[in-house]
Amino acid sequence: MKKELYLLAGLALSPMVLMAENVCISTAKTSLVVNATEGQELKFVYYGEKLSAEDLKNINNSGLPQFSAYPVYGLNCPGETALAVKHADGNMSLQMEVEKTETRREENAIVTVITMKDKVYPFYVDVCYKTYQDADIIETWTEISHNEKKAVTLNQFASAYLPIRRGNVWFSSLYGSWANEGRLVQEPLEPGMKVIKNKDGVRNSHTAHGEVMFSLDGKPQENSGNVIGAALCYTGNYKLRIDTDDSEYHQFYAGINEENSAYTLEKEETFRTPELALTFSEEGLSGVSRNFHRWARLHKLAHGDKLRKILLNSWEGVYFNINQEGMNQMMADIASMGGELFVMDDGWFGDKYKRNSDNSSLGDWMVDTTKLPKGIEGLIADAEKNGVKFGIWIEPEMANTTSELYEKHPEWILKAPQRDPVLGRGGTQVVLDLGNPEVQDFVFGVVDNLMTKYPKIDYIKWDANMGIMNHGSNYLDKDEQSHMYIEYHRGLKKICQRIRAKYPDLTIQACASGGGRANYGYLPYFDEFWVSDNTDALQRIYMQWGTSYFFPAIAMASHISAAPNHQTFRTIPLKYRIDVAMSGRLGMEIQPKNMTDEEKELCRKAIADYKNIRPVVQFGDIYRLVSPYDRLGVASLMYTSPEKDKAVFYWWKTETFCNQHLPRVKMAGLSPDKMYRIHELNRIDNSPLKFEGQTFSGAFLMSNGLEIPYTHNVDYHKLNDYASRVLYLEAVK
Ligand code: DGJ
Repeated sequence: MKKELYLLAGLALSPMVLMAENVCISTAKTSLVVNATEGQELKFVYYGEKLSAEDLKNINNSGLPQFSAYPVYGLNCPGETALAVKHADGNMSLQMEVEKTETRREENAIVTVITMKDKVYPFYVDVCYKTYQDADIIETWTEISHNEKKAVTLNQFASAYLPIRRGNVWFSSLYGSWANEGRLVQEPLEPGMKVIKNKDGVRNSHTAHGEVMFSLDGKPQENSGNVIGAALCYTGNYKLRIDTDDSEYHQFYAGINEENSAYTLEKEETFRTPELALTFSEEGLSGVSRNFHRWARLHKLAHGDKLRKILLNSWEGVYFNINQEGMNQMMADIASMGGELFVMDDGWFGDKYKRNSDNSSLGDWMVDTTKLPKGIEGLIADAEKNGVKFGIWIEPEMANTTSELYEKHPEWILKAPQRDPVLGRGGTQVVLDLGNPEVQDFVFGVVDNLMTKYPKIDYIKWDANMGIMNHGSNYLDKDEQSHMYIEYHRGLKKICQRIRAKYPDLTIQACASGGGRANYGYLPYFDEFWVSDNTDALQRIYMQWGTSYFFPAIAMASHISAAPNHQTFRTIPLKYRIDVAMSGRLGMEIQPKNMTDEEKELCRKAIADYKNIRPVVQFGDIYRLVSPYDRLGVASLMYTSPEKDKAVFYWWKTETFCNQHLPRVKMAGLSPDKMYRIHELNRIDNSPLKFEGQTFSGAFLMSNGLEIPYTHNVDYHKLNDYASRVLYLEAVK
């Protein structure tokens, strides 16, 4: 008789090898159950709220159908599959059965590995699950290997599969474009295939995002309802498929996009698919966001436990017009407003070819001494004099054909053999072949040389402004050309790991033509990402709203910029621009010398206040309250401290009509029994709000909310069509 063992991964480590049937992978609030009976196919049983021991024992009798947990192609497979291969003998089928289940501890996480072997071929798939003790996330991926005589071709290699029960399931995903990233799309899942994909090669979150949510019981709600969230942690091309077929389930698959990427797996080589991070919450979409954010801060984001500095970035202030005096002036200005860091953007480098526009010099990472006669040393000295840290922009994965690097190493770029390269930004940009170890050394060297020469550099803005537009690697063999995308990202990962090993304290921003690199594949190496090149505060509300579904405010660079805005040409008052920027990692993207003293004073106060609320914004729990996408004329969200003794509430009017009706916004995430004192930040009104300094119970604030005036009480000449409020709530004894 087979022994039935329940392996409670996440609670205790059971013996290393188990004759397990049901394996329960648990976090504090969730359970995932698979049936791993030896000699049989691995079956998916359950994913959702945490099961009690009693329910777990009886789960097989609950009538739940059992699907293959990792469907493979070849036998009885009319549906979608996760894995499809071609053995050397031409056989295109697989039939996997469970060999063993093992668990191991990895720091404060537990990894469960279920090893499957093909019935006939020495071909193996390990299905892996990783649970953290302190975050409600289960990471799952596979490790594929074989011992066949010759190489096996992997045609399809998803990271994971999850069946989701039908029943008015709504799907939330992000879709956008350059300068319009992170747009939220919500739709019911209907029969047919929904595919979310990326094929850029370099940047993977401009259009689609590799993260999605499933609201299981009808139209998505922010703070109620059962929701599954999934994030594919990968820096490269991905494909997420949801097949709503004739069964009772939506079939969800996620992994690397295999298009033009068939992989030749050599004997004894292991192919590891990227992790799919899964979470489940009974507290709606915001609940899933909070799970992702917590996991990000604790485990996935570089320095997730460190407050971010308030910075000024030079791009929109001066563009390519970098010079020593100009940089010094900007440093003095940001310092005078209370900022802590200055970042010099594009335009500082190039010797033979000077970087005066986007059409040359990438790859030539030497200082342009005509612009900066005192060099980086001079800039660092100025930063020190002004009392701010210094950061610098690079785009190390790229070259221009007009560069010394390209003249020396034309073979280092990605390019189809016998064809002229398709050129990117500026008409001359090309992508370096990161699969080539020599190129990896070069790219690592860009950071290493800067940091060795100028160890006081505190921050690097790492940009990437072109996708892979040419299929061809000079480094890879002709039979391995389909590995190009995968090898690019393996190379990038190796570079990032080397950088992090040598420079663990450096702050690095992932920028990629704006928000092209907001993905958990990047975040272990990067402290934050640039949400978008679009700094228009009104449009940022929409983009930051969507992006906050999966990423915490601490990672979302959000800057106060000029009016009219440089992307939309919209003129938005400074107060509103500040109020939006303060809901993320606050910074500035402006020429301060063009600001009036009054504007600078408003920014100075906002920066001082941001320092006070920074721990709540950057380490707090998000509660989204009114969505801009619901077009109710207002958008609102808040962050609460983990102890619920402090909160910051944001309210932005998104349109203006005379005598309009806006909803009163109920707060969330407070402690009902605590009394909170209200204080408005960034006040511009001539008189304080009615509730300034007043105290209300969390219960009242959450069931009624405060009545926010629709306009600002300012002098006539200051009236405009924007209104916004930031309220700081502090619990009083
Ligand atoms: C694109 C980035 O998103 C911008 O912020 C800026 O750094 C430019 N590149 C510089 O070329």
